[in-house]
Amino acid sequence: MAIEQVTRNGAVDPSGYGGQPVIDVRNLTKHFPVGGFVSKQVVHALEDVSFSMPRGEVVALVGESGSGKSTTARLLARLIPPTSGEIVYEGKDILKSEPRHASLDYRSDVQMVFQDPFGSLNPVHPVRYHLERPLKIHKKTRGRGQTRDRIHELLDIVGLTPPAEVAAKYPYQLSGGQRQRVAFARALAVEPRVMLADEPVSMLDVSIRIGILNLIERLKEDHGISFLYITHDIASARYIADQTNVMYAGRMVEGAESTELIDEPAHPYTKLLLSAVPNPHAGLRTEEAPSRGEIPSLIDPPPGCPFEPRCPYAMDVCKQEMPGISSLNRRHWVRCHLYPAGEAAAGMSGKLTNVSVQVNVRN
Ligand SMILES: Nc1ncnc2c1ncn2[C@@H]1O[C@H](COP(=O)(O)OP(=O)(O)O)[C@@H](O)[C@H]1O
Ligand SMILES: [Mg+2]
Repeated sequence: MAIEQVTRNGAVDPSGYGGQPVIDVRNLTKHFPVGGFVSKQVVHALEDVSFSMPRGEVVALVGESGSGKSTTARLLARLIPPTSGEIVYEGKDILKSEPRHASLDYRSDVQMVFQDPFGSLNPVHPVRYHLERPLKIHKKTRGRGQTRDRIHELLDIVGLTPPAEVAAKYPYQLSGGQRQRVAFARALAVEPRVMLADEPVSMLDVSIRIGILNLIERLKEDHGISFLYITHDIASARYIADQTNVMYAGRMVEGAESTELIDEPAHPYTKLLLSAVPNPHAGLRTEEAPSRGEIPSLIDPPPGCPFEPRCPYAMDVCKQEMPGISSLNRRHWVRCHLYPAGEAAAGMSGKLTNVSVQVNVRN
């Protein structure tokens, strides 16, 4: 457990880590080879993505299907290796050669919860089995009694009661929301510091989504877990995330505190996403992200801004050059030629109004 520390300027730092992010992603790039062995073609699934996960916060990744969100989560979970870039965990680049045990720590410290609660549990085993396994593999409990008590405790934490009854049930006897809660309990069994939740509510009924989002909030508050919350629904990011990063075609195009991103979006793509949400303050939407226009080819991406073909503000330079990062304030940045590069853009967020892009909403 972290111990409170007093920082240099005298303020109390509850994290005890001097404000250091739990995970720092630097210039992460992932190219997938396509077309067989002879082909040199690659899909540029992720290109030069950098972001931080502050300790004990929920960071959202928002973007349409195909923007690289799951690839980011899979890289962070070490399910796939990156083409280049760094993943710095607790100050160490985990991709550099390291002792084996250190890498094991990372794999238990960083747990993933997937989108599909129906596919993620084994239908032939009861709930108990799904929680017993990680407890045994990671040696979290000793003996039957302790394991049973911990299983009940985990089920209680995720709101599945009475625990003894739920533990004996099979996945088919549970609703989608209940299964997703089991998936969270399973991840929690390992006592992780970070959870990567890849569209954890998008396959659930709207009526039960809010319960899962509230569970994430509670795990953050009560257990100090840092979350990467992946979604195509910017309104749910506003509801749950402290910080929101917007992705488009394998690039991160804007990041800010969630309330500021919704109230003062800077990137035309963020504005487009928001224009499809009737009321981003109201909570959760049911529909997919706007579908007008397509993400450009990721096999041979053009040199300029990937959003240029859909952008109502596109200028000549947007076709030719990838925009750099403009810093709007300490936690708000944008990658767009409409803003002066570097620090000079401070105070410019929200200056562009009336984005006149028609959006169709896919069901
Ligand atoms: N194993 C793979 N091989 C080839 N292309 C892939 C692979 N995994 C993902 N991609 C491609 O990478 C891009 C980003 O995918 P993904 O990260 O799943 O996006 P998202 O989760 O935002 O929908 C897509 O164009 C997808 O087709
Ligand atoms: Mg995905």
